[in-house]
Amino acid sequence: MSDKLRLCEVASVKEGEPVGVFIEGMPALAVYNVDGDIFVTDNTCTHGNAMLTDGYQDGDIVECPFHGGSFDIRTGAPKAFPCQVAVKTYAVVIEDGWVNILKNEGAA
Ligand code: FES
Repeated sequence: MSDKLRLCEVASVKEGEPVGVFIEGMPALAVYNVDGDIFVTDNTCTHGNAMLTDGYQDGDIVECPFHGGSFDIRTGAPKAFPCQVAVKTYAVVIEDGWVNILKNEGAA
């Protein structure tokens, strides 16, 4: 239980409008709704100091606002140049209408 971090309400995350969440001791996080499924990644682009939540979501792709690079929201994999390093993703647990992540887990 203690390894779960509560981020925001599921209902506050609309498709195409990723939500930035800031929690002490964690990197800035981005919460996405893709077809009704919730995903969480680090919010900072791996190419520079841009917040992905300031970018543009198209389905399961988020485009960085700075140089047009993009990532796969589900896997964190870079999808367009100049992004070459995956953005970290987190295991999501939905509980009582809230988005939680498992603190010490994550792919990439
Ligand atoms: S900072 Fe994101 S593509 Fe350059």
